Parts: sequence; C-alpha cells; structure tokens
Amino acid sequence: MTPDEIPEENCEEAADETLGGASRAGAPGPAPAPDASDAVLCRGLRYAFGETRAVDGVDLSVRAGEVFGLLGPNGAGKTTAIRCITTLLPVPAGMVRVFGHDTAKERMAVRRLLGYVPQQLSADAGLTGRENVTLFARVFDVSRRERAARVEQALAAVGLTDAADRLAKTYSGGMIRRLELAQALVSAPRLLMLDEPTIGLDPIARTSVWDHINAVRAATGMTVLVTTHYMDEADQYCDRVALMHHGRIRALGTPDELKSALRVRRRTAPAPATTGTSAHPSPASTSHPHFSASPLSSSPLSSPPSSAAPSRSSDAAPTLEDVFRDVAGSGLDEQSGDFRDVRSTRRTAHRVG
Ligand SMILES: Nc1ncnc2c1ncn2[C@@H]1O[C@H](COP(=O)(O)OP(=O)(O)OP(=O)(O)O)[C@@H](O)[C@H]1O
Ligand SMILES: [Mg+2]
Repeated sequence: MTPDEIPEENCEEAADETLGGASRAGAPGPAPAPDASDAVLCRGLRYAFGETRAVDGVDLSVRAGEVFGLLGPNGAGKTTAIRCITTLLPVPAGMVRVFGHDTAKERMAVRRLLGYVPQQLSADAGLTGRENVTLFARVFDVSRRERAARVEQALAAVGLTDAADRLAKTYSGGMIRRLELAQALVSAPRLLMLDEPTIGLDPIARTSVWDHINAVRAATGMTVLVTTHYMDEADQYCDRVALMHHGRIRALGTPDELKSALRVRRRTAPAPATTGTSAHPSPASTSHPHFSASPLSSSPLSSPPSSAAPSRSSDAAPTLEDVFRDVAGSGLDEQSGDFRDVRSTRRTAHRVG
C-alpha cells in the first residue's frame, strides 16, 4: 500500500502507532508553572521496566532554540527519557512539559510540536524516499493542501530531491538517516528529537547529517534534542549537554563549562594514588554552577579504579570524553549496558552501515 492509499481516517491510528500507543500517565506531582520558553521541562521523571529503573528522577530543561545533547553510556536511560518526552511512553512518575504542554494531559498537542528520529529504523525499505516522507506527512496530519509542497521541502532540506524516487533500500546508511530526518521535518516541528542520528555513519555522512540539521535550524529556529555517543559531535554541535548515567543526570552545562569544571576538579582533587578517577564530586564541584548540584550530590557515583582512566595531568586540557569518563565512571566496560543494549546498538549500526 502506498502512502496515498491509506484511508485518511486511519492516520490518527497510524500516528498512535508511530509515536507509540502511550496510555495516559497518572497524575503528576506538584507542577512548576508552565514556561513555554522551555522547549522541554522534566521534573522528577521516572520510568521503570520491571525492576530496571531506566529513568530515575530526571530534572531537565531544554531552552527554546538550543541544541541540547543528552549523553551517557549504553543503558543510561537516554532513549527511555526521550520516549517519555515524545509521549511514546507514559510518564508514571514526575512531569514532562513540551513548550508548556503537559505530556500526560495534552498528548496530541505535544505530538504536533515535535519531530522524532528514533534510534531504530523508521523508514520503510520497500517505499521510495518520497513515499516514506509522504507517509509521515499524513501520519503527522499535514493538511492535504500543503502536503506535496512540504514533502518536497523536507526532501530538499536533507539533499534527497534527486534520489526521491528511488526505493529506500537502495540508499546508503547516510541517505537513510537523512531520509528519516526528512520524515521528522515534514511536519515543521518546533522541537526535533534525534536519538543517535549518526550512529554507524562514516565521518562524511555524519557531517552531512549535522549540516542539514543546522541548516534547518538556522532557517526555522527549531529546538533540537539529540542523543549521541560521539563526544566530538556533542562538543561541536551542542549548545549544552547533560550527562546521564544509571537513569540520572549527573552533570549539565555547555561543553566548555563542563570541561573547565573538570579541569578545576583535577587541579583541586587529591592525588589519585589508590583511588583511580573518581566521579564523586569534590565539595567545590557540587557547588560549581556548571554541574547540577542536586543529582551529583544526592547520588554520587561509585566508580572502581580503572586502567582505562585518562591521564590526570592537570595541564592537559580535558576533552568532553574526559568529562564523560569522569562522570560516568571508568569501569564502563564492566558496568554499562546489558545484552539488550548491545543488541539494540548493533542492530542500529548494522542497518545504517
Ligand atoms: N523495552 C524494554 N524492556 C526492558 N528493559 C528495557 C527496555 N528498554 C530499555 N530497557 C532497559 O532500560 C535501561 C535504559 O535503556 P535505554 O535504552 O533508555 O538506554 P540508552 O541510554 O538509550 O542506551 P543506548 O546508549 O545503548 O541506546 C537499560 O538497562 C535497558 O536494558
Ligand atoms: Mg538509546
């Protein structure tokens, strides 16, 4: 069935399917006053899969117009948090607002504001690029009158006009990711959420994806919330980043602020002779404006010593990867992620590679 053959009345159903069959969440706790200048506001967000507390009390705000990076090791809870914000998952505890709209009470209003590129494949290999984008235009309720023009704009925005009539299965990994970007952009979202948009791509394809994101941003002022494992991308493209580990935000700030704060901590921390790199914040760092004091101070990480720890020379300028290791702990190989996480990451890398 081509996108145009889907009956109009089935599109709301399809929208529910595409963005998940989320049931309404329970009543949130005392909500802060809505602030539409925050693109995203999370307070005390929690989500558990059985015994696994995937998101364990996240407080976060993403300012309108910024590119915000959510970083963290495999299994940190990034995708789960993103899915709560998209309304794909209900919010069983805490509160999430998107441009002031409560995801629990105004699910469709929230969905109309956002575009979402999931970690997993969202393009249909058996459809052409144009058909895939048209399908999303219908699913996201782009009016019939505007639809054709918006599809062409979205394809052009990601540089796929010439390949629009080829089947997606003939696309390279980078083209598929750009196609998924077009699918998310076709509804002209105010908030674009990208879960690992460049995983498995070569450096040129990665740059191309970011160039297209930035061009659309410059033209529309759209807010971008992105997860990535590539620290260089986060450093280069994100205005602010949050480092998540074991379901909590451990540090938050601009990349430069976080790197400077680490440099200060390295200078002031006691010699590491037997303790390795510690993610425990020093008293100075907990009150440092660049780190979110409450998550850090209320739940410090305990990290085993590791030979993989970076050099602690106080002269070396820390990188964002150093910050990541410092915050997430250096025993990542042993601690982080489980079979599900590995399978998910590899599946994603394979299909785009
Ligand atoms: N559908 C599910 N059922 C059970 N547990 C899940 C499910 N999805 C995620 N989890 C678990 O929740 C935790 C957080 O997973 P999540 O996918 O949110 O992490 P992530 O930070 O996105 O990881 P990655 O970087 O590998 O994408 C992990 O322990 C994961 O195994
Ligand atoms: Mg993920």
